[in-house]
Amino acid sequence: MKGRIRKVDEVAEGVRRIVVDIHLKADPGQFVMVWVPGVGEAPFSVSDIENGLQLVVALRGSVTRKIFSMSEGDVLPVRGPYGKGFTLVKGTVALVGGGYGLAPFPLLSKRLKDLDSHITLLLGFKGSKNYIDPQKVGILADDFIVATEDGSVGFKGLVTEILEDLSGYDMVYACGPERMAVELLRIVNPSKVEISVERLMRCGIGVCGSCVLDPLGLRVCSDGPVFRGDVLLRIEDFGRFWRGWDGRKEEIR
Ligand SMILES: Cc1cc2nc3c(=O)[nH]c(=O)nc-3n(C[C@H](O)[C@H](O)[C@H](O)COP(=O)(O)OP(=O)(O)OC[C@H]3O[C@@H](n4cnc5c(N)ncnc54)[C@H](O)[C@@H]3O)c2cc1C
Ligand code: FES
Repeated sequence: MKGRIRKVDEVAEGVRRIVVDIHLKADPGQFVMVWVPGVGEAPFSVSDIENGLQLVVALRGSVTRKIFSMSEGDVLPVRGPYGKGFTLVKGTVALVGGGYGLAPFPLLSKRLKDLDSHITLLLGFKGSKNYIDPQKVGILADDFIVATEDGSVGFKGLVTEILEDLSGYDMVYACGPERMAVELLRIVNPSKVEISVERLMRCGIGVCGSCVLDPLGLRVCSDGPVFRGDVLLRIEDFGRFWRGWDGRKEEIR
Protein backbone atom coordinates (compact mmCIF):
# COMPACT_ATOMS: atom_id res chain seq x y z
CA MET A 1 0.00 0.00 0.00
CA LYS A 2 1.05 3.60 -0.53
CA GLY A 3 0.31 6.76 1.37
CA ARG A 4 1.30 10.40 1.32
CA ILE A 5 3.38 11.77 4.16
CA ARG A 6 1.07 14.09 6.13
CA LYS A 7 3.43 15.37 8.84
CA VAL A 8 7.13 15.33 9.64
CA ASP A 9 8.49 16.51 13.00
CA GLU A 10 12.06 16.45 14.30
CA VAL A 11 11.65 14.88 17.78
CA ALA A 12 15.38 14.70 18.59
CA GLU A 13 18.64 15.15 16.72
CA GLY A 14 18.48 12.62 13.86
CA VAL A 15 15.06 11.26 14.86
CA ARG A 16 11.81 12.12 13.10
CA ARG A 17 8.16 11.38 13.71
CA ILE A 18 6.52 10.74 10.36
CA VAL A 19 2.75 10.40 9.88
CA VAL A 20 1.63 8.74 6.65
CA ASP A 21 -1.92 8.77 5.27
CA ILE A 22 -2.24 5.01 5.56
CA HIS A 23 -4.98 3.51 7.70
CA LEU A 24 -4.32 0.01 8.90
CA LYS A 25 -5.05 -2.30 11.80
CA ALA A 26 -2.02 -3.41 13.81
CA ASP A 27 -1.12 -4.87 17.18
CA PRO A 28 1.39 -3.00 19.35
CA GLY A 29 4.90 -4.28 18.60
CA GLN A 30 4.21 -5.23 14.97
CA PHE A 31 6.28 -3.61 12.23
CA VAL A 32 5.92 -2.49 8.61
CA MET A 33 8.44 -2.74 5.78
CA VAL A 34 9.00 0.69 4.24
CA TRP A 35 10.16 0.62 0.65
CA VAL A 36 12.19 3.45 -0.78
CA PRO A 37 12.32 3.02 -4.58
CA GLY A 38 15.85 2.73 -5.92
CA VAL A 39 17.36 2.40 -2.44
CA GLY A 40 15.82 -0.51 -0.52
CA GLU A 41 13.49 -1.60 2.22
CA ALA A 42 13.71 -1.49 6.00
CA PRO A 43 11.52 -2.51 8.95
CA PHE A 44 10.01 0.09 11.29
CA SER A 45 7.79 -0.40 14.32
CA VAL A 46 4.17 0.63 13.95
CA SER A 47 4.30 3.53 16.39
CA ASP A 48 0.64 4.54 16.22
CA ILE A 49 -2.33 4.06 13.91
CA GLU A 50 -4.83 6.56 15.30
CA ASN A 51 -4.70 9.36 12.70
CA GLY A 52 -2.72 7.57 10.03
CA LEU A 53 0.39 5.44 10.33
CA GLN A 54 2.96 7.00 12.68
CA LEU A 55 6.61 5.98 12.43
CA VAL A 56 9.55 7.16 14.54
CA VAL A 57 12.62 6.98 12.32
CA ALA A 58 16.27 7.38 13.35
CA LEU A 59 18.79 8.37 10.69
CA ARG A 60 21.20 5.49 10.11
CA GLY A 61 22.12 4.56 6.51
CA SER A 62 20.86 4.70 2.94
CA VAL A 63 17.15 3.90 3.47
CA THR A 64 16.70 6.19 6.44
CA ARG A 65 18.72 8.97 4.71
CA LYS A 66 16.28 8.84 1.79
CA ILE A 67 13.30 8.87 4.18
CA PHE A 68 14.83 11.95 5.84
CA SER A 69 15.03 13.69 2.45
CA MET A 70 11.25 13.29 2.02
CA SER A 71 8.70 15.85 3.10
CA GLU A 72 4.96 16.36 3.48
CA GLY A 73 3.07 15.27 0.34
CA ASP A 74 5.67 12.70 -0.79
CA VAL A 75 4.48 9.12 -1.32
CA LEU A 76 5.80 6.33 0.94
CA PRO A 77 5.17 2.67 -0.03
CA VAL A 78 4.67 0.33 2.92
CA ARG A 79 3.85 -3.37 3.34
CA GLY A 80 2.59 -5.08 6.48
CA PRO A 81 1.95 -5.02 9.36
CA TYR A 82 4.01 -8.11 10.11
CA GLY A 83 5.19 -10.11 13.11
CA LYS A 84 3.95 -10.89 16.58
CA GLY A 85 3.61 -8.02 19.01
CA PHE A 86 3.35 -7.53 22.77
CA THR A 87 0.92 -9.47 24.98
CA LEU A 88 -1.44 -6.97 26.58
CA VAL A 89 -1.63 -7.33 30.35
CA LYS A 90 -4.12 -5.64 32.64
CA GLY A 91 -2.36 -4.53 35.82
CA THR A 92 0.79 -2.66 36.81
CA VAL A 93 3.23 -2.51 33.93
CA ALA A 94 6.52 -0.84 33.00
CA LEU A 95 7.62 0.31 29.56
CA VAL A 96 11.41 0.47 29.23
CA GLY A 97 12.98 2.09 26.18
CA GLY A 98 16.34 3.32 24.99
CA GLY A 99 16.64 5.94 22.23
CA TYR A 100 14.28 5.40 19.30
CA GLY A 101 13.31 2.11 21.00
CA LEU A 102 10.32 4.03 22.34
CA ALA A 103 8.83 3.82 18.81
CA PRO A 104 6.22 1.09 19.56
CA PHE A 105 5.17 2.62 22.91
CA PRO A 106 2.46 5.10 21.73
CA LEU A 107 0.20 2.32 20.40
CA LEU A 108 1.21 -0.07 23.20
CA SER A 109 0.44 2.49 25.92
CA LYS A 110 -3.00 3.26 24.39
CA ARG A 111 -3.96 -0.40 24.27
CA LEU A 112 -2.76 -0.88 27.88
CA LYS A 113 -4.77 2.17 28.97
CA ASP A 114 -7.86 0.65 27.28
CA LEU A 115 -7.39 -2.15 29.85
CA ASP A 116 -6.94 0.41 32.64
CA SER A 117 -3.38 -0.69 33.36
CA HIS A 118 -1.08 1.50 35.44
CA ILE A 119 1.94 2.44 33.29
CA THR A 120 5.41 3.44 34.47
CA LEU A 121 7.55 4.71 31.61
CA LEU A 122 11.35 4.48 31.93
CA LEU A 123 13.40 5.95 29.11
CA GLY A 124 17.14 6.26 28.54
CA PHE A 125 19.05 8.49 26.13
CA LYS A 126 22.68 9.47 25.53
CA GLY A 127 22.06 13.15 26.27
CA SER A 128 19.67 16.10 25.85
CA LYS A 129 20.19 16.20 22.04
CA ASN A 130 18.86 12.64 21.82
CA TYR A 131 16.05 13.11 24.34
CA ILE A 132 12.59 12.40 22.86
CA ASP A 133 9.67 13.93 24.75
CA PRO A 134 7.21 11.01 25.16
CA GLN A 135 4.25 13.40 24.82
CA LYS A 136 5.48 14.53 21.38
CA VAL A 137 5.08 10.97 20.05
CA GLY A 138 1.89 10.25 22.02
CA ILE A 139 2.98 7.86 24.79
CA LEU A 140 0.53 7.63 27.71
CA ALA A 141 2.00 7.02 31.17
CA ASP A 142 1.06 7.45 34.83
CA ASP A 143 4.69 7.82 35.96
CA PHE A 144 7.71 8.81 33.91
CA ILE A 145 11.41 8.52 34.75
CA VAL A 146 14.20 9.51 32.35
CA ALA A 147 17.92 8.80 32.47
CA THR A 148 20.67 10.26 30.28
CA GLU A 149 24.25 9.02 30.13
CA ASP A 150 25.62 12.56 30.56
CA GLY A 151 23.05 13.62 33.17
CA SER A 152 21.76 16.51 31.01
CA VAL A 153 18.14 15.34 31.48
CA GLY A 154 16.89 13.41 34.51
CA PHE A 155 18.95 10.76 36.30
CA LYS A 156 22.64 10.52 35.29
CA GLY A 157 23.40 7.03 34.08
CA LEU A 158 21.96 4.18 32.08
CA VAL A 159 18.25 3.47 32.13
CA THR A 160 19.07 0.01 33.50
CA GLU A 161 20.49 1.68 36.64
CA ILE A 162 17.02 2.97 37.53
CA LEU A 163 15.47 -0.43 37.04
CA GLU A 164 16.39 -1.66 40.49
CA ASP A 165 13.02 -2.91 41.64
CA LEU A 166 10.95 -4.07 38.73
CA SER A 167 9.80 -7.21 40.52
CA GLY A 168 6.43 -5.74 41.46
CA TYR A 169 5.27 -5.36 37.87
CA ASP A 170 2.83 -7.71 36.18
CA MET A 171 4.73 -7.17 32.92
CA VAL A 172 7.77 -5.22 31.73
CA TYR A 173 7.82 -4.29 28.03
CA ALA A 174 11.14 -3.27 26.50
CA CYS A 175 12.54 -2.01 23.24
CA GLY A 176 15.97 -0.50 22.65
CA PRO A 177 19.66 -1.35 22.38
CA GLU A 178 20.34 -5.04 22.92
CA ARG A 179 22.79 -4.39 25.77
CA MET A 180 19.93 -2.66 27.61
CA ALA A 181 17.72 -5.71 27.04
CA VAL A 182 20.44 -8.10 28.25
CA GLU A 183 20.86 -6.05 31.43
CA LEU A 184 17.08 -5.99 31.91
CA LEU A 185 16.97 -9.79 31.83
CA ARG A 186 19.50 -9.85 34.65
CA ILE A 187 17.23 -7.71 36.82
CA VAL A 188 13.65 -8.86 36.19
CA ASN A 189 11.85 -12.17 36.19
CA PRO A 190 12.39 -13.24 32.54
CA SER A 191 8.90 -14.73 32.28
CA LYS A 192 7.46 -11.28 33.06
CA VAL A 193 9.34 -9.34 30.42
CA GLU A 194 8.73 -8.98 26.69
CA ILE A 195 11.41 -7.49 24.49
CA SER A 196 11.25 -6.30 20.89
CA VAL A 197 14.34 -7.59 19.08
CA GLU A 198 16.06 -5.98 16.07
CA ARG A 199 17.75 -7.93 13.33
CA LEU A 200 18.53 -7.19 9.72
CA MET A 201 15.51 -8.09 7.63
CA ARG A 202 15.06 -8.73 3.92
CA CYS A 203 11.69 -10.40 3.32
CA GLY A 204 9.98 -9.59 6.64
CA ILE A 205 7.70 -12.62 6.27
CA GLY A 206 9.74 -15.62 7.44
CA VAL A 207 11.10 -16.80 4.08
CA CYS A 208 14.71 -15.64 3.55
CA GLY A 209 16.33 -16.59 6.88
CA SER A 210 18.22 -13.27 7.35
CA CYS A 211 16.77 -12.75 10.80
CA VAL A 212 17.16 -16.27 12.25
CA LEU A 213 18.24 -16.50 15.91
CA ASP A 214 20.52 -19.45 16.78
CA PRO A 215 20.21 -22.08 18.13
CA LEU A 216 16.40 -22.12 18.32
CA GLY A 217 15.98 -21.08 14.68
CA LEU A 218 13.39 -18.47 15.57
CA ARG A 219 12.75 -15.81 12.93
CA VAL A 220 12.58 -12.30 14.30
CA CYS A 221 10.21 -11.21 11.53
CA SER A 222 7.60 -13.93 11.94
CA ASP A 223 8.15 -15.51 15.41
CA GLY A 224 8.88 -12.02 16.82
CA PRO A 225 9.97 -9.26 16.83
CA VAL A 226 8.63 -9.45 20.39
CA PHE A 227 9.92 -12.38 22.48
CA ARG A 228 9.49 -13.31 26.12
CA GLY A 229 12.60 -12.99 28.27
CA ASP A 230 12.82 -16.70 29.10
CA VAL A 231 12.90 -17.50 25.37
CA LEU A 232 15.64 -14.93 24.75
CA LEU A 233 17.78 -16.44 27.52
CA ARG A 234 17.90 -19.65 25.44
CA ILE A 235 19.20 -17.79 22.38
CA GLU A 236 23.01 -17.78 22.13
CA ASP A 237 22.98 -14.92 19.61
CA PHE A 238 21.02 -12.61 21.89
CA GLY A 239 23.21 -9.71 22.99
CA ARG A 240 26.17 -11.11 21.04
CA PHE A 241 25.64 -11.55 17.29
CA TRP A 242 23.44 -10.53 14.40
CA ARG A 243 23.68 -11.35 10.70
CA GLY A 244 24.94 -8.78 8.21
CA TRP A 245 23.83 -8.47 4.56
CA ASP A 246 26.12 -11.37 3.52
CA GLY A 247 24.46 -13.66 6.11
CA ARG A 248 27.59 -13.86 8.26
CA LYS A 249 27.38 -13.23 11.98
CA GLU A 250 28.77 -9.93 13.24
CA GLU A 251 29.34 -8.98 16.84
CA ILE A 252 26.80 -6.54 18.23
CA ARG A 253 28.61 -3.35 19.23
C1 LIG B 1 11.36 -5.14 13.91
C2 LIG B 1 12.20 -3.90 13.72
C3 LIG B 1 11.64 -2.68 14.03
C4 LIG B 1 12.39 -1.51 13.84
N1 LIG B 1 11.81 -0.32 14.17
C5 LIG B 1 12.48 0.81 13.97
C6 LIG B 1 11.88 2.07 14.26
O1 LIG B 1 10.73 2.16 14.69
N2 LIG B 1 12.62 3.18 14.01
C7 LIG B 1 13.90 3.12 13.51
O2 LIG B 1 14.50 4.17 13.31
N3 LIG B 1 14.50 1.95 13.23
C8 LIG B 1 13.81 0.80 13.43
N4 LIG B 1 14.42 -0.40 13.13
C9 LIG B 1 15.80 -0.41 12.61
C10 LIG B 1 15.76 -0.05 11.14
O3 LIG B 1 15.13 -1.08 10.41
C11 LIG B 1 17.20 0.14 10.67
O4 LIG B 1 17.77 1.24 11.31
C12 LIG B 1 17.21 0.39 9.18
O5 LIG B 1 17.06 -0.85 8.53
C13 LIG B 1 18.48 1.03 8.75
O6 LIG B 1 18.45 1.10 7.32
P1 LIG B 1 19.42 2.06 6.55
O7 LIG B 1 19.44 1.64 5.12
O8 LIG B 1 19.09 3.48 6.83
O9 LIG B 1 20.81 1.76 7.21
P2 LIG B 1 21.87 0.64 6.76
O10 LIG B 1 22.76 1.27 5.73
O11 LIG B 1 21.17 -0.62 6.42
O12 LIG B 1 22.60 0.44 8.11
C14 LIG B 1 23.38 1.45 8.75
C15 LIG B 1 24.08 0.80 9.92
O13 LIG B 1 23.13 0.25 10.86
C16 LIG B 1 23.30 -1.17 10.95
N5 LIG B 1 21.95 -1.74 11.00
C17 LIG B 1 21.01 -1.71 10.01
N6 LIG B 1 19.90 -2.36 10.40
C18 LIG B 1 20.13 -2.80 11.64
C19 LIG B 1 19.38 -3.55 12.57
N7 LIG B 1 18.13 -3.98 12.32
N8 LIG B 1 19.96 -3.86 13.77
C20 LIG B 1 21.21 -3.46 14.06
N9 LIG B 1 21.96 -2.73 13.21
C21 LIG B 1 21.44 -2.41 12.03
C22 LIG B 1 24.09 -1.57 9.70
O14 LIG B 1 24.91 -2.70 9.93
C23 LIG B 1 24.97 -0.36 9.48
O15 LIG B 1 26.08 -0.37 10.33
C24 LIG B 1 13.71 -1.58 13.33
C25 LIG B 1 14.27 -2.82 13.02
C26 LIG B 1 13.52 -3.97 13.22
C27 LIG B 1 14.13 -5.29 12.87
S1 FES C 1 13.54 -11.27 7.20
FE1 FES C 1 13.35 -13.00 5.90
S2 FES C 1 13.04 -14.61 7.30
FE2 FES C 1 13.01 -12.85 8.54
